Amino acid sequence: MPCAIREAGAGDWPRIWPIVQDVVTEQRTFAYDPAMSEAEAQQRWMLPVPARVVVAVEGDRVLGTANMYANRPGPGSHVASGSLMVSRDARGSGVGRALAVDLIAWARRSGFAAIQFNAVVETNVHAIRLYESLGFVTLGVAPGAFQHPAEGRVGLRIMWLEL
Ligand SMILES: CC(C)(COP(=O)(O)OP(=O)(O)OC[C@H]1O[C@@H](n2cnc3c(N)ncnc32)[C@H](O)[C@@H]1OP(=O)(O)O)[C@@H](O)C(=O)NCCC(=O)NCCS
Repeated sequence: MPCAIREAGAGDWPRIWPIVQDVVTEQRTFAYDPAMSEAEAQQRWMLPVPARVVVAVEGDRVLGTANMYANRPGPGSHVASGSLMVSRDARGSGVGRALAVDLIAWARRSGFAAIQFNAVVETNVHAIRLYESLGFVTLGVAPGAFQHPAEGRVGLRIMWLEL
């Protein structure tokens, strides 16, 4: 599926929210409060500069979204982090890869030393395969740290890419 990645503006939120809402209420991939309101989700996702929020678009359609930021403030701010979500009906067509490649390029040109994903759910094999194919390695797993609705308690991986 041909998609373009561009920076998101406040006007994109109505088309981002259904994607975030679906992922958060499903509770399979993100440890976010599934009862979070739209306003809370907007505040959490649409982070202000120097963070960056992007959308993957095909024409007027928003197929996916990512945000990216310094993983920690102060002495931890040379390591980037981020999150990505693809609309359920657009998955498996390269949108997630395009968002991840964009995130890596942003981190590199912003001068970050590495990217750390803090909590990749062990059963999220598509995300893990995608990140590994881009060079990420798993530093460790917090065992049973995520309550999966079908699998029970599963691990959370810390994944790392040296830039
Ligand atoms: C994880 C996620 C972002 C991947 O996005 P996507 O658009 O489906 O991924 P892509 O189509 O770009 O595929 C990238 C890779 O993921 C893997 N993958 C994706 N869909 C797959 C499928 N149905 N079966 C097997 N592997 C798959 C493959 O390794 C694929 O590599 P390829 O490009 O060589 O085929 C998406 O599934 C998603 O938004 N999931 C819910 C939220 C989430 O888990 N976010 C990440 C949290 S860490």
